[in-house]
Amino acid sequence: MGMDSWKTHRRSTQTFMTILVIGSGGREHALVWKLHQSPRITRILCAPGNAGTAMLAENFPIAATDLEGIGDLARRENVALVVVGPDDPLAAGLVDRLQAEGIRAFGPTASGARFEASKSFAKDFMRRHGIPTAHSEKFTDFTTACDYARTQKYPLVVKADGLALGKGVTVAADFAMAEKALREALVEKVFGDAGKMVIIEEFLAGRECSIHALIDGNSWLLFPDARDHKCALDGDQGPNTGGMGTLSPSGRMDDALRLRIENEILAPFVRGLAADGIHFCGLLFPGLMLTAGGPKVLEFNVRFGDPETQVLLPRLHSDLLDLLEATIDGKLSEMRPQWDSRTACCVVMTSGGYPGAYQKGAVISGLENAAASGATIFHAGTTATNGQIMTSGGRVLGVAALGDTRSDAVANAYRAVVLIDFENAAWRTDIGAADSL
Ligand code: AMP
Ligand code: GLY
Repeated sequence: MGMDSWKTHRRSTQTFMTILVIGSGGREHALVWKLHQSPRITRILCAPGNAGTAMLAENFPIAATDLEGIGDLARRENVALVVVGPDDPLAAGLVDRLQAEGIRAFGPTASGARFEASKSFAKDFMRRHGIPTAHSEKFTDFTTACDYARTQKYPLVVKADGLALGKGVTVAADFAMAEKALREALVEKVFGDAGKMVIIEEFLAGRECSIHALIDGNSWLLFPDARDHKCALDGDQGPNTGGMGTLSPSGRMDDALRLRIENEILAPFVRGLAADGIHFCGLLFPGLMLTAGGPKVLEFNVRFGDPETQVLLPRLHSDLLDLLEATIDGKLSEMRPQWDSRTACCVVMTSGGYPGAYQKGAVISGLENAAASGATIFHAGTTATNGQIMTSGGRVLGVAALGDTRSDAVANAYRAVVLIDFENAAWRTDIGAADSL
């Protein structure tokens, strides 16, 4: 089926919809930006949104985790579909609640969100269903965990079980470092309840990449692959962050590997859902380590990646709304989305100090020049006050550009980055660099 007939087929079902996007990051600006291109959407609302979403949507100052406030807004504004960006409202049951009120929502219910909200749940599922992942054990007691860690090979990986803003994972070079991570989680409780259980995991050597797959309960639809740059500083140095930049395709995956990922990860995942009676509908975004023994799952996310979305959606030619609706309606097998074969690169500009303490309220200049250079500027931690756009978070902007080759995409993104200015702006200079391939 050609792209046009596919679009016409889907478009006939419902026209002129109001959509509500939940969240306030670069991912949500990218979702709003892409949904804004849909001919079937007349109005987009965003809660709470940022200065970028405000240019294409109406922002409402309702927190992503205010389930009642979001339900009220969706009802009042006759929203046809709620698209949930972040993990915490999913884990808190936002989709369950909206569905109970008869409001359509994209994203898994709280039960499906456990794949991300509990690493031990995800690990047990993978073990039961033969999905390749690092060997691991779970602990709640500090002394028992240390006794185990003392007997293991290093490096060793210590992970908080729950949602910890990407900061709950330590790759420990030696026992002293593992003990410190265990103490922080289990004794000092720096991650609160998210760290009351920890996973101690075998270290996997290899190269990382990730894949996004829509899952409608029975079938899946794979997006192109991407890779993130999680460390704060060039050369993969410094602390882990939510993500400092992305490249799609990753340059690390060929068709044979994609097929292995489908056969060894997605097929057993979907079979496992049926076997365990888990209903999962939404997006599955596994982080992968490409090891000498094949692809292995580092973690499951149950939502679009940030900043992966900022490189995937610029490559999507088809209507995202069609794909989200087909997922909810169990019709993914009918979808044939069209993708741009070019490479996309996104460089995240941060407030200096991130992921530690950083300043807010700096005026951002140069956004129009950067956009005029051909890049797409996705806002994350920004607010608009009296016509000025100011920083309001650690990750401030994602500067995304396409290019015929990897190096063109990278050069196009950085050409736009240097046109943007705010006090203490920081970014990695090696996003998508060839030497990290
Ligand atoms: P996660 O949030 O579980 O994806 O972990 C965050 C980061 O820690 C990953 O992107 C990897 O760089 C690293 N990591 C996690 N688990 C492992 C592992 N078993 N072996 C090596 N590195 C890991
Ligand atoms: N960029 C990694 C994530 O969204 O979890």
